[in-house]
Amino acid sequence: MNVSRKGLFIVFEGLDGAGTTTQTRLLAARLAQRTPTVMTAATAEPSTGPAGSVIRQVLRHRVRGTDCFGKDKPFDPGALALLFAADRLDHYSCEIEPVLDSGGVAISDRYKLSSLAYQALDVPFEWIASINSLAPEPDLLFFLDVSPEVAWNRVSMNRITRDIFEVPEILRQVHANYNKALERMDRDKVVIIPGETPADSIADIVWHHVAGRIPAAQGGQEPVN
Ligand code: TYD
Repeated sequence: MNVSRKGLFIVFEGLDGAGTTTQTRLLAARLAQRTPTVMTAATAEPSTGPAGSVIRQVLRHRVRGTDCFGKDKPFDPGALALLFAADRLDHYSCEIEPVLDSGGVAISDRYKLSSLAYQALDVPFEWIASINSLAPEPDLLFFLDVSPEVAWNRVSMNRITRDIFEVPEILRQVHANYNKALERMDRDKVVIIPGETPADSIADIVWHHVAGRIPAAQGGQEPVN
């Protein structure tokens, strides 16, 4: 869904370990420093809201699916996809829309493309697109493109607990789904950055694309480059 808005909605996407969380933080910090009069919010999906909290429990295997006799079985992937879609609408209306309405910059670490990339492993891609169709599109999306092998090496080194998607073969399929989802996006809104570029250089590339688009609603201040 495309909406006209006062603020700027930016999304970072990529495989696990691609650096979306780092870049979300770096961009928020740079905005706070260079355009302090513009409200900035850095958020993430799964969000901290009710559906997001359940999703995190599922990803960490703390909530499991069962059959009607209470016997363990995998959590239903369609139900998980619906939880992600519900979390997205809740996240947008509670954390993103108010910032955009006041002319600020909202940055989300993951959004709709994550569902198209990850949930389409188990349920049809078009169904994922359809259950997410009410979630408004971002103005700018940065895809941090790391290979599945690099992603796997990074998550293996950095994390003790594994999410259910952090497996090499699964990351390869997720990467292919990301490419499929990116092909369908408005090219003007997408910036693909090689994710093996040093983090500071990625942050500079991101800033190059963002600086000229920062809303002037709260004071009309030009960004300092
Ligand atoms: P991640 O950004 O890795 O969060 P954290 O650093 O807190 O673990 O996201 C958690 C996982 O959720 C990640 O493997 C991708 C997955 N995910 C989906 O499968 N679908 C979605 O729609 C979203 C937003 C995330």
